[in-house]
Amino acid sequence: MKILVVGSGGREHALVWKLRQSKKVEKIFCAPGNGGISLLAKCINIKADNIKGLAEFATRNKINLTVVGPEQPLAMGIVDEFQKRKLKIFGPEKQAAQIESSKVFAKQFMQKYHIPSAPFKVFNAFAEAVGFCKSVAYPVVIKADGLASGKGVIIAENQDEANAAIENIMLKQSFGKAGEQVVIESFLKGQEISIMAITDGKTIFPLLSSQDHKQAYEGDKGPNTGGMGAYCPTMLVTDEMMEQIDDFILKPTINGLRNENIPYRGVLYFGLMITNNGIKVLEYNCRFGDPETQAVLPLLKTDLLDIITAVVDKKLQSLPKPEWRKGCAACVVMTSKGYPGKYTTGYPIYGLKKSWSNGNYIFHAGTRKDNNNWLTAGGRVLGVTGIDADLKGALNNAYNLVKKIKYEGATYRRDIGFRAFKTEEAVGLAKK
Ligand code: AMP
Ligand code: GLY
Repeated sequence: MKILVVGSGGREHALVWKLRQSKKVEKIFCAPGNGGISLLAKCINIKADNIKGLAEFATRNKINLTVVGPEQPLAMGIVDEFQKRKLKIFGPEKQAAQIESSKVFAKQFMQKYHIPSAPFKVFNAFAEAVGFCKSVAYPVVIKADGLASGKGVIIAENQDEANAAIENIMLKQSFGKAGEQVVIESFLKGQEISIMAITDGKTIFPLLSSQDHKQAYEGDKGPNTGGMGAYCPTMLVTDEMMEQIDDFILKPTINGLRNENIPYRGVLYFGLMITNNGIKVLEYNCRFGDPETQAVLPLLKTDLLDIITAVVDKKLQSLPKPEWRKGCAACVVMTSKGYPGKYTTGYPIYGLKKSWSNGNYIFHAGTRKDNNNWLTAGGRVLGVTGIDADLKGALNNAYNLVKKIKYEGATYRRDIGFRAFKTEEAVGLAKK
């Protein structure tokens, strides 16, 4: 088969790497890809949101299957466009992708199908939203309705912060149309975990649980980022809890969407909070998580292409459940100094030759190759994944590799996995 993977980050590198292992794959293209991906796939210079360009490429090159990484093209309707042209593609259609691209849609859907989530209200007028914030308990969570690259969620500690957030979203229109409506919801306290599930709209294959680290600095401090590291599986999710998640969250979501006549095919990401009051949905994403995918896929034994093909052909039921390697994976994200704020790129990266040894992986997120040199090319630069029998070993392997990689301004959190231990212990591990 000829495969096209759409996207350019660490998630797409992990997808390309995993798909390449399938015996059925003849050639992989990636649009637009990155330096690391170019070692495994032919990168083509078409942006992920150029849907017509991608569809034309797929037709011209007789691509048998396209796998979409990021949310933007899914929200824009890449799957609908490919299907119209009789091209096979893995991902939800535009209407189903609303589960991520509209928080109002997602919250109202959860309410309708009794899927546990924070109580909320929707506003489409500034004055009303601000008025409501006069009488809420703080902190409160304010969310722009549409896609905002992870920046559209503000946790306001007091009324001033709430007013500023609503003004920013609704009056200053910092996120454009995405801010025409806001969701204001109660703040949930607890442990955040990620569950990704592959589904053809009926059968659900949950992948192993994982935990992301969204804040930029150690101890979960500082601004939100795209994700600074992840590990898999997380001991926070026991088998019993997974059953509850399946019964009260995964199944009602997939069945609810089918009931709405928008069957979901693809991977659905559940951002969950384990609270004292049960497990609640914080968010849905209509795609693989990043960096979670870089920790989850290295543990998957089953051929990913078989699973994806079964989804596209609506035959997931006929496949055996995915098989997993024993042990743990931990991914440490290395960034450019200043990320998620301003940063500069173009610095040479040294030490990459040691990658892919001893069962550890370096996934490239923002790199490019200039002759024989590797250069930084993004905010998130690399995802370094270590594997071992347990989490401590996996973290050790990842950090040992991280320390061999050098570039100007290389920045990373030393406490990935800290919620599974105590912070000091995790930082100690990184320093060892
Ligand atoms: P979202 O885009 O809705 O996932 O929000 C981004 C991040 O904001 C989540 O990953 C959580 O860390 C945080 N968050 C969102 N909603 C809530 C909530 N109701 N309570 C606490 N934290 C939240
Ligand atoms: N790691 C969070 C996300 O992919 O949205």
